[in-house]
Amino acid sequence: MTDVYDRLRTAVEAVAARTGRDRHDAAVVLGSGLSTYAASLTDAIAVPYADIPHFPVPRVEGHAGTLYSVRFGERAVLVLAGRVHAYEGWDLADVVFGVRVAALAGCRTVLLTNAAGGVAADLAPGDLVMISDHLNLAARNPLVGPNDDRLGPRFPDLTDAYDPEVRALGRSAFEAVGVPYREGVYAWMLGPSFETPAEIRMVARLGGDLVGMSTVPEAIALRHLGVAVGGISLVTNLAAGISPTPLSHEEVTETADRARDRIVAVLDRLLPLLAAR
Ligand code: HPA
Repeated sequence: MTDVYDRLRTAVEAVAARTGRDRHDAAVVLGSGLSTYAASLTDAIAVPYADIPHFPVPRVEGHAGTLYSVRFGERAVLVLAGRVHAYEGWDLADVVFGVRVAALAGCRTVLLTNAAGGVAADLAPGDLVMISDHLNLAARNPLVGPNDDRLGPRFPDLTDAYDPEVRALGRSAFEAVGVPYREGVYAWMLGPSFETPAEIRMVARLGGDLVGMSTVPEAIALRHLGVAVGGISLVTNLAAGISPTPLSHEEVTETADRARDRIVAVLDRLLPLLAAR
């Protein structure tokens, strides 16, 4: 078995060969329901994850499994439509494989998007929220194990895990397309069950505004690599106990579909800014 670094290098070479681009400047990961953004891309080069050596292929409904390479002027952006999750049983090395490939392909900035439950009282389904910080409530970390110094340091700093400059660019993109700007703290719960109302009261007391089942391991792996991270959550439902109705995956995907136009508008504005920084 080759080590993670060798597998990453093989995948990075395959991405360069298939896209004809040996360097990408920024990347975005499209979360649950947000993969619809990929449908709006014109002139994108599409590569199924299954064609990239060692790349984990999503199995969950609503998660596509395709890498796109898109040009914005002189810059190139990788769009990763679909991700794999720890709750599916994947090792965290697989969960973060795609964003590590993006980093080793040259991306200096990666935007992570997700569907999330709204915990803060002023959030409503359909809201887009820029992540300001996170709570790792899954108590798992992709950097557990021997450290590979070629990827990053043993003890990476997470003070500004969600890059202030990326957040400022996010604000300008939101405002330019008329989407109210808001920031919030994202709490990672392992899933796959949704939370109990008591767990959501706990998250609220700990300072969490949003709750979801992804993003945090990717953010950690990217900071390890020295990559600037941005995060956008789409609030697809009010969290358990706040919502008057039981939670369902259908509600998540339906809200994502309704928010589609605003997501496309924000990403179309933001991705060129991220690629240029
Ligand atoms: N909890 C956890 N993950 C989620 C939720 C939620 O309420 N909504 C979308 N993803």
